[in-house]
Amino acid sequence: MSERIDLRSDTVSKPSPRMRQAIAAAEVGDDWYGDDPTVNLLQDRAAELTGKEAAIFLPTGTLCNQVALHAYVSSGHLAVCEASAHIGGTEVSSSAALSGVSFRHVAAQHRGRLTGAQVAAALAPDPYDVAVVDLVAIENTHQVGGGSVLSVDGVAAIAAATTAAGVPLYLDGARIFNACTVAGVPVAAYARHVDALMFCLSKGLGAPIGSVLAGDAEFIREARRLKILFGAAWRQAGLMAAAGLIALTEGPARLHEDHANARALAEGLAEVLPGSIDPAAVETNIVFADVAGTGRDALQWRELLAAEGVLVTIIGDRVRMLTHVDVTADDVAAALDAWRRIAKS
Ligand SMILES: Cc1ncc(COP(=O)(O)O)c(C=O)c1O
Repeated sequence: MSERIDLRSDTVSKPSPRMRQAIAAAEVGDDWYGDDPTVNLLQDRAAELTGKEAAIFLPTGTLCNQVALHAYVSSGHLAVCEASAHIGGTEVSSSAALSGVSFRHVAAQHRGRLTGAQVAAALAPDPYDVAVVDLVAIENTHQVGGGSVLSVDGVAAIAAATTAAGVPLYLDGARIFNACTVAGVPVAAYARHVDALMFCLSKGLGAPIGSVLAGDAEFIREARRLKILFGAAWRQAGLMAAAGLIALTEGPARLHEDHANARALAEGLAEVLPGSIDPAAVETNIVFADVAGTGRDALQWRELLAAEGVLVTIIGDRVRMLTHVDVTADDVAAALDAWRRIAKS
């Protein structure tokens, strides 16, 4: 059991000993010139896995999203996304500043899951012929939706709507491998319905740094230009790609453990704070507990838990916890003990 139980995000995990060895041994070149062999290997592997023509290794998921927005959406035009999607919320200033892009937000009825009908309605022609939508962006799993999974059929229905409207479809798949684990499908099953997608190596897959953007060859050629334009030509990035290759090879197969730990955490919380959570709604590695009725607000819970060595984040009245490779079943039990002690105090 670790001393501090860090449930703030699945980005907080430390690289494994194997990753550290691979980093030390990595063959590298200068990625600006495209001659870092380890980066190239990772990109080829990612293109193969997603079934896309090409892929590019970038430092963050945010940069993948921003490059995609810049490539697809003209300045002054719109992208459609779910109301609480990362791309159109947390990153909204980035896309305004970097690309002059704003969003048409569509509120999903259920845990962030957009439907084909909602997307079709959002793409209906503007009667005043002023607003132009250049891209639809979906998020799977959906973070603020509590790690909810959009099924392959659900994505296909959205793709039918975007194809009918002639608008490209982009997938923010920061946690797409968590969705694949639940859906029991390879990532290509999702990727085939979208024009481009990104996934993060540095979240559930456990790498220290890095995300991958994949799409057709022309799009990735433009993405490379934008990567350099945005200042992210990261030279001997093979050091990070070496860890990323391990994450991509070994990470997906163990995500079910994070999902089981998240479910156990949710079940325990439902006992400690009845009504704060529906454990059945925890599909992947994200757990939200609604602490509105507990006599303490979310900020107080966060501070009291931190004093017990359990780190969490908060969104409104909800406490957010993510499981990841550095969180064991014993850590979950210890975190629940902390919740219990505080609830009784
Ligand atoms: C759904 C989603 N997309 C994109 C990102 C951005 O990834 P990064 O933190 O690597 O920039 C995050 C980060 O939490 C996310 O949750």
